[in-house]
Amino acid sequence: MTTHSEETRRETWSSRVAFVLAAAGSAIGLGNVWRFPYLAGQNGGAAFVFIYLAIVLLIGLPVMIAEVGLGRFTRRNPVGAFARAAPASGWRTVGLLGVITGFGILSYYSVVAGWTLIYTVQAASGTFATLTDPGQTGRLFEHLVGDARTVLTFHALFLTLTVAVVIGGVRRGIERWTFILMPVLLLMLLLLVLRSLTLEGAAKGIAFYLNPDFSKVTPVTFLVALGQAFFSLSLGMGVMITYGSYLSEREDVVVAAVSVTLFDTLAAFLAGLVIFPALFTVEGVEPTQGAGLAFVVLPAIFHRIPLGNLFGTLFFALLTVAALTSAISLLEVCVAYLTDEKGWTRKRACYLVGLVSFTLGIPAALSTGASTFLSRLPLVHIGFLDLMDTIFGNLALTLGALLLCLFVGWRWAPEDALTGAMEGSAYPGLRRPWLLLIRYLCPLAIGTILLQLLMKLFVQG
Ligand code: TRP
Repeated sequence: MTTHSEETRRETWSSRVAFVLAAAGSAIGLGNVWRFPYLAGQNGGAAFVFIYLAIVLLIGLPVMIAEVGLGRFTRRNPVGAFARAAPASGWRTVGLLGVITGFGILSYYSVVAGWTLIYTVQAASGTFATLTDPGQTGRLFEHLVGDARTVLTFHALFLTLTVAVVIGGVRRGIERWTFILMPVLLLMLLLLVLRSLTLEGAAKGIAFYLNPDFSKVTPVTFLVALGQAFFSLSLGMGVMITYGSYLSEREDVVVAAVSVTLFDTLAAFLAGLVIFPALFTVEGVEPTQGAGLAFVVLPAIFHRIPLGNLFGTLFFALLTVAALTSAISLLEVCVAYLTDEKGWTRKRACYLVGLVSFTLGIPAALSTGASTFLSRLPLVHIGFLDLMDTIFGNLALTLGALLLCLFVGWRWAPEDALTGAMEGSAYPGLRRPWLLLIRYLCPLAIGTILLQLLMKLFVQG
């Protein structure tokens, strides 16, 4: 067992606001600004947006409360949290799955974040002013992400930034930087929304984004929306357990989780308001573009927008900042595990995780053109980066969230689960509804969708 002195040495957030900012920083990332708009574009626009909102409210929010509660109650990293809540059981493996998922996601997340850095530099140096159609920007994209030296350099650069923040610890590193970066992020986002909404022809984009056509909804829509909800809210691998473990007993977990969810959803919604109006002002560009939406389609419209270079630079800087506060949380989970469970110093853990993630990210970085083999793997017929995203960014998170619901709802003592999640809450009336959601609706819905996901993989496989 741990001694009391060890307990008091553990850092905490200086306030609930600090927790909310850091957790919102984790949640708001490439998932909101890059992934959400393109998924919405591919899956019917407004209809997807509505289904996504329902899933966030009914599944995302209760799962977030459960994760934060488990962390706050046990004051441990994911592995330690399960081990404390259910000693001498196999449940700590679920925490370990989370830590491994953290390594996995960080390694390829930082590759894509490296692209956003490259694009910030490109936009600032005026490259996009000379490109006028998606054909040209598409070739530029292929050229940039297909160049081994460029992608590896920026992948390393981005990870170095992440390590530099996390090495400072909870208060002097994560908290300090999110206090600076989050307001910057919000300001940039609002500026871009204003710019986009005042473009001539913006109305068509708004209609696509906000007038639902539910005839386009298929079972796949739910699957994609759920996966996106977990990814966007940083659920299913223990970020919220870890961040919750630095939260004081006096704080209200429900209010904190609602705030984080609200901020994250707002950021995704606003990102859509930036992208779709801009998109529909240009002929021949489709919202169903897919993953290239932010990197191929947007650069092709900057030259038509007054001060396009400035707003282009702003957009990619925004993506980079958002990605940084998310990568910080991924790194922190692995670091908390190594310092709590293995007794490592924070510094040593940061360097090691950074190095391993860099190495693990190399094949992902080379899979977007530099290596033909990695760009289209045998059997699965997708690139290494996409494979990592499917395994870690989707499957592992969904499985992790399912196991977490089963644990908190059924295995853990209900009094402890309620203490962790609800003690100090100003809304005691939410205890029962929350427990019901965590016990029944969440595991059933997640389980069903996980089955579909596996079937889809094997049928296509
Ligand atoms: N939520 C972040 C995004 O939207 C990514 C992220 C950070 C994440 N930490 C996570 C995703 C933990 C899943 C689990 O970009």
